[in-house]
Amino acid sequence: MTEARTTASLFLRALLGEDTPRAPIWLMRQAGRYLPEYRAIKEKATFWEMVRTPELAAEITLQPLCRFSLDAAILFSDIMTPLPAMGLRIEFNPGPVVAEPLRTPAQLEALEVPEAEAIAPFVAEAIRLVRKELGGKPVALIGFGGAPLTLAAYLVQGAGSKDFEDFRAFLRQEPRLAHRLLEKLTLLSIRYLRMQAAAGAEAIQLFDTWAGLLDPEAYRTFALPYHRRVLEALEVPRLYLAVGASHLYPLVAELPCEGVSVDWRLPLSQVRPLFPGRALQGNLDPAVLLAPPEVIAQEARRVLQAGLGGAHIFNLGHGLLRTTPPEHVAHLVEVVHAFDRRSEVL
Ligand code: CP3
Repeated sequence: MTEARTTASLFLRALLGEDTPRAPIWLMRQAGRYLPEYRAIKEKATFWEMVRTPELAAEITLQPLCRFSLDAAILFSDIMTPLPAMGLRIEFNPGPVVAEPLRTPAQLEALEVPEAEAIAPFVAEAIRLVRKELGGKPVALIGFGGAPLTLAAYLVQGAGSKDFEDFRAFLRQEPRLAHRLLEKLTLLSIRYLRMQAAAGAEAIQLFDTWAGLLDPEAYRTFALPYHRRVLEALEVPRLYLAVGASHLYPLVAELPCEGVSVDWRLPLSQVRPLFPGRALQGNLDPAVLLAPPEVIAQEARRVLQAGLGGAHIFNLGHGLLRTTPPEHVAHLVEVVHAFDRRSEVL
């Protein structure tokens, strides 16, 4: 029993700053299109149906856990999930498409911020189902949301984009409207993420996929104050991911979070001194998983070695690519499990 409890919290122990004997592992986008069992469900249901049907969302969340010995599950959902409750129409093709991108004061004023129970009750139910299924297993459940900046980027730009120019222009052309939008998204995110924690999510990851597009001054103005408020409102351990954003790390270090997720561009050993006392998560290049097994092992060990000297949660630098062979993921998990951090020297 005691042993079960010790193992149960390996992911949480590392997130709370412990230099654990082995690195816990989970993978961003661990549920999804690279798995045939996901594609089988996808043939019969739309993306929104999968997200909004608690039994389906719970089943998809657990699919990768049935195949691989991962240390955490991440709820199957999307960063766009809470936004239709504001009165927005959003489709997926395959990324998010906003029917009427936000530009005018009237559109912004019309956005509602519902009470927590009304935002996405199906998410709370899916979380409860997953927790029940996981029972006493040594697997943590991670809830998540998009950071207000990244949500605003989609809502203003209207869809994914390489550089989000319309959004970056909007921040400078209409700063008051931008702040009004970020304010509403902050309030929504606080309610939505607190609801996930109350339903049973044991940690929350805030995805700030597009933060790296901003210069430090714009990040300080349009991201930092809002993201600080969202993270401060959470009573469970917090992870923050900004992609392509190492130029912003001195500012990211001001955010209240236990762990920082690092993309593949810099070795963890180089990032470690910027975040003293925090857990680092990452940071294998997802493209490595397309290479042969011996290359995967070699590159994974390089990441593990660079992660020594502090708390490390093994992950990819960004989401799994959809062409990843599932056997390669199995191999990666074995390599990470076999790496004894205590017998390694820095
Ligand atoms: O396994 C998991 O990680 C949990 C599920 C999850 C999804 N989206 C499912 C999904 C998570 C954590 C997300 C977060 C998300 N969604 C982010 C932040 C992380 C990141 O990748 O930067 C962003 C930017 C989005 C927006 C989004 N949703 C995009 C760009 C896409 C399409 C392209 C893609 O990457 O797959 C989606 C759709 C989406 N979300 C799919 C899945 C499994 C694919 C849907 C399909 O099967 O067609």
